[in-house]
Amino acid sequence: MPELRGAVVAVTGASAGIGWETALAFAETGARLAVCARRLDRLEQLAQAVRAKGGEVVAEAVDVAQADQVRRFVDGAAARFGRLDVLVNNAGYGAHGRVEELPAETFRHLMEVNYLGTVYGCQAAVPIMRRQGRGVIVNVSSIVGHRALAGGAAYAASKAAQISLTESLRAELRGTGVFVSSVHPVGTGTEFAEVAARESGGLASGPIGPQQSARRVAEAIVRCARRPTPEVYPYLPSRALVWLNALSPGLMDRVAWRMARRAGPRVAAAATPASAPITPSQVSGSVGRSSETRNIAKGRVANTAMPNPMATPHPTSAPLSRRTILRTARPSAPRAIRSPISDVRRVTEYASTP
Ligand SMILES: NC(=O)c1ccc[n+]([C@@H]2O[C@H](COP(=O)([O-])OP(=O)(O)OC[C@H]3O[C@@H](n4cnc5c(N)ncnc54)[C@H](OP(=O)(O)O)[C@@H]3O)[C@@H](O)[C@H]2O)c1
Repeated sequence: MPELRGAVVAVTGASAGIGWETALAFAETGARLAVCARRLDRLEQLAQAVRAKGGEVVAEAVDVAQADQVRRFVDGAAARFGRLDVLVNNAGYGAHGRVEELPAETFRHLMEVNYLGTVYGCQAAVPIMRRQGRGVIVNVSSIVGHRALAGGAAYAASKAAQISLTESLRAELRGTGVFVSSVHPVGTGTEFAEVAARESGGLASGPIGPQQSARRVAEAIVRCARRPTPEVYPYLPSRALVWLNALSPGLMDRVAWRMARRAGPRVAAAATPASAPITPSQVSGSVGRSSETRNIAKGRVANTAMPNPMATPHPTSAPLSRRTILRTARPSAPRAIRSPISDVRRVTEYASTP
């Protein structure tokens, strides 16, 4: 679908971060938009920004963990605009904690939102796109869906499930004109870390590995809608981690362990008193290596059009009884990743240094 002008694009999780930027990026192409999330006030702000660019948009409050709400949103978009060309299943959140410590409920709810929310979107969109004989579904997974890190099992499993869903559905739809892609961002400058901290009982994590802006991910999603590819890596060198994990999962275990070890002692060192509120700078205050990361940290890049993240309480936010801030002074990923090939070499060196 090289021409997106007039195309109908539905985006879930558009009230913040990647979804917000994706909606704006599609609006700039002249696409017509349907957006959803739980916070309608945020969606109204997004709708104003889209209309200011001359775009057409409808916004709806939806919890993607509810199949009937997702179907109503997708069917409603198709009914309103007469067709559905692109669905971006982006809504999602994270949580961290060791497997033996995280409540099973956290695993379950992550699956309901991140995985089943995507299933519901696909199930609603596929019949419409089949009838049209064309369409693109973009499922926003994560690089950790391919290779999980210590402390990230519950989230990574939900992202891995999205990948399997995408692969299977793409094969099922071969020859129909409907294409399904998965997107694998690395750490992205959004509210994600703040929400993950809240969902993890206050256990915040600084960025691990290379960081990118939500805009960069959004642009990759728009490119994918134009020319679909099975998998999208907005930060291309991260693909090397997938190759390396396939070649040597044991080596990647060592890399993952080193990442966790680097971050570990800071948990205790940076613990804050129970009464101190978490601030965004505490959660995302570490400074990365790339200029994009530094710009994100300085607020120059990501989500400049976004409302203040603290202004609208997150629906899942709950008072924290314990606040432990884990701050990494810098990302602990392999240094100076330049290309997939050199990345494999550097990751190998990284894992073998004591
Ligand atoms: N940021 C990263 O480092 C990163 C890396 C890899 C992949 N990702 C993936 O990228 C996607 C977007 O994340 P983000 O970084 O943009 O995070 P974000 O800034 O926290 O945005 C998450 C969006 O998902 C929505 N959402 C969450 N739960 C929902 C639910 N039950 N129903 C409907 N909407 C829901 C939120 O809206 P409401 O709260 O208003 O409902 C919000 O619009 C997620 O799938 C995430 O897993 C993020």
